[in-house]
Amino acid sequence: MTQRVTLKVNGRVEAIDADPDMPLLYALRNELGLSNPHFGCGLAQCGACTVHLDGEPVRACATPVSAAEGAEITTLAGLGTAERPHPVQQAYIDEQVPQCGYCVNGWIMTAAAFLKRTKRPSDEQIRDALSGLKCRCGTHLAILRAVKRAARAMG
Ligand code: FES
Ligand code: FES
Repeated sequence: MTQRVTLKVNGRVEAIDADPDMPLLYALRNELGLSNPHFGCGLAQCGACTVHLDGEPVRACATPVSAAEGAEITTLAGLGTAERPHPVQQAYIDEQVPQCGYCVNGWIMTAAAFLKRTKRPSDEQIRDALSGLKCRCGTHLAILRAVKRAARAMG
């Protein structure tokens, strides 16, 4: 049954009418026009839909919109801007990582949360933190370079 759901997304408060069980991803993309989180598998398996809830990465395709009420939701658009990119976004540019770009949202959102809590990570820690993500274009070595670059920038 549809009810009023209030979401705080990238610092703005938004109210929508939605089934509380609807995936957060649908609310962000279809109701609020935020197209960075992508629909990949829809089964919490690829990470393309990742957003932050209170700074922690979650898979928006498998998160009911009601579970996001009261949380600070951050999408890729809220992480950094073209003028002031987040260090992971800047590293993606510097390392020219994307090919098709479909997966980029998930890797950057996951890496940004990981690097915030893990300073100077080892390659193994980076691989572990990102192990649940998929890139069908096979950009994994470039991603590793970019995350290491971002880690250096974030101290
Ligand atoms: S679309 Fe959410 S994990 Fe794949
Ligand atoms: S760049 Fe194409 S899926 Fe990752």
